[in-house]
Amino acid sequence: MVTNDLYSSPYLVDYYDLVAPKSESIDDASLYWKVYQALRSPLIRAPREPFVIMDVGTGTGRVVQGLSNSAALLGDDFFNTKVLGVDNAQHMLDKAADNLGPLFKEHVSWILGSALDLESVMVQSGYRKVDLLIFSIGSISHLSEKGQPEKFLEQVSRVLCPGTGRAYVSIYDGSLLEKSEQVTFHQPEGVTEIKSHVFPNIMYRESNHRGEVQDKIKDVTFELQVVEQTDLGAQVLETNNISMKMRQWEEDELLTMLPGSGLKFLEKTRGKHETFYVFSTAASAASAA
Ligand SMILES: C[S@@+](CC[C@H](N)C(=O)[O-])C[C@H]1O[C@@H](n2cnc3c(N)ncnc32)[C@H](O)[C@@H]1O
Repeated sequence: MVTNDLYSSPYLVDYYDLVAPKSESIDDASLYWKVYQALRSPLIRAPREPFVIMDVGTGTGRVVQGLSNSAALLGDDFFNTKVLGVDNAQHMLDKAADNLGPLFKEHVSWILGSALDLESVMVQSGYRKVDLLIFSIGSISHLSEKGQPEKFLEQVSRVLCPGTGRAYVSIYDGSLLEKSEQVTFHQPEGVTEIKSHVFPNIMYRESNHRGEVQDKIKDVTFELQVVEQTDLGAQVLETNNISMKMRQWEEDELLTMLPGSGLKFLEKTRGKHETFYVFSTAASAASAA
């Protein structure tokens, strides 16, 4: 039996895409689109370096797809805009690249990198600063080791455009401590079977959920089998023991981590299932120059 997170093989990534929240239920991309429009509009006529959007923990590119769908719908050509889809799981990036339609492909770079080392991501990207940074649907909960959320915030302050850049960090309602006395899973208890839409004759069997919250860390494990249905019957191709450690949050706890990060809190805004915390750099453009 292999121990894995949910992002570490093409089958697992396919399964993630089947069970993960869909844009229709989350609808965060429309907020990010409005923010992008508002931030870009004063800059659009001035000759400048490209407007850079960084989607940290981009996964299979759900938010990037949402942005490009809005652009396509409104006839916006992403003028002078570059999108950096960043993830530390290559299989997620491969799926993200496959999922994105051809129209905006040239505007997007998929970069293997860590939320904890965004400066290296910038070096890889060839750009200097980020105008809009997104860490969507509570993915900051993946930073479950001590000091990691603080490290992330500090890295954000180093890559964000001084003064004008904005970072949107989502804390998901389901990751708030008081709402999570019961550990929740992707699927109900028992055995759930879901057919792949991508791989012919493949079915995913999820079972044996266990979970506990200790010291603000939710530790969830379950078994995920990849089953091929052939004329000779069902054959188990892989048995994965999935283990996910996700940080749980007190309300506004993220703000207590700001001192020393180089970031300034601007506002918080509510989505359907989450709170978006909005930050700029603490230093203005003038003092950073
Ligand atoms: C819940 S998924 C969210 C995917 C996508 N942003 C969305 O909103 O649908 C979280 C993603 O964060 C990535 N991730 C986790 N820890 C990370 C880290 N330290 N650096 C970069 N990406 C990370 C995972 O590989 C996964 O693709």
